[in-house]
Amino acid sequence: AHQWRGVLAEYSDHLPFSSTDTLLSLGEGGTPLVAAPALSAKVGAEVHIKVEGQNPTGSFKDRGMVSAMSKALNDGATTVVCASTGNTSASAAAYAAAAGLTCVVLLPEGKIAAGKLAQAVVHGAKLVQVQGNFDDCLEIARKLDAEHPVELVNSVNPYRLQGQKTAAFEIVDALGAAPDLHLLPVGNAGNISAYWMGYQEYREKGISDSVPRMWGFQAAGAAPFVAGRPILDPETVATAIRIGAPASWDLAVAARDDSGGSIDAVTDEQILAAQALLAAEVGIFVEPASAAGVAGLLQKAEQGLVPAGARIVITVTGNGLKDVDTALSGRDLTPTVIPVDISAAAEAMGL
Ligand code: F0G
Repeated sequence: AHQWRGVLAEYSDHLPFSSTDTLLSLGEGGTPLVAAPALSAKVGAEVHIKVEGQNPTGSFKDRGMVSAMSKALNDGATTVVCASTGNTSASAAAYAAAAGLTCVVLLPEGKIAAGKLAQAVVHGAKLVQVQGNFDDCLEIARKLDAEHPVELVNSVNPYRLQGQKTAAFEIVDALGAAPDLHLLPVGNAGNISAYWMGYQEYREKGISDSVPRMWGFQAAGAAPFVAGRPILDPETVATAIRIGAPASWDLAVAARDDSGGSIDAVTDEQILAAQALLAAEVGIFVEPASAAGVAGLLQKAEQGLVPAGARIVITVTGNGLKDVDTALSGRDLTPTVIPVDISAAAEAMGL
């Protein structure tokens, strides 16, 4: 039986590595594209969910990280650095461990979901919490890269987007064609840029006939693309996308405009409602930021902007287990406690 070899080996024809390069893999990519009949029925279209929380460290970041880390390894780097809202640092820490490299991460103090922090810690990264937001962390990381012998593995490193574009390849490979619409959350804007690159490359190579319109969604309190300028004090419950000055600004604007798409805002309430709906009606548990695309779809449907019967892919970017505190907040967790007794169990369960 064929075992998935990770994105660098599976898509080597489309990536900037040579046959003599060492290619890392933790088995990233090859994630499921799941039909979502409950969402399809709600919006009158054909909705598929690309479940990126199934990656080795539980987010889409692994696709780009395996690429950036392999490049750093082949270049003889010994230390990698990144700024992160949590997932990039979890992924960098894991792939640095696999590569035998030292990993240093800069995190906004107090704004990292516990699961992500745990990942960076157990994989042995050196953690520094900065008294600022992600944008402050990235500025420091860029300067460290310029002034010290360290390799920056944020998505400003072009190898990150190269790896991440493989998600678009997988979608076209699975559907046999590009979808009509692709929806996803937008934070630092690397992912929307990478998907657009991947879709365009497949069309240029004649593997697909078309490209989708790209619909990106930001949290309302952290929506610089909607404002048309950086946001100084980004705030949202979706800490993964709590970003005010996205690094891939121009690439994301090109993805939006060249695809005939849009980047809109959804509120924290919409995000949390979409997270709950995905869990309860589709069967997929995602972290809050990851639900922004689903929140966006429902908003577009309410505005009458979802074409009837359109083929839609929504990327859900990270696993719900990374941030159980947010998922459980506001829910009644009082347990129903019974003695060891079958009739008490039956009664408690309303049977
Ligand atoms: N969803 C999740 C779960 C994320 O962690 C991120 C970004 C995004 C969406 C947005 O993707 O930045 O490519 O537009 N997280 C980064 C991090 C910033 O540090 O983990 P983007």
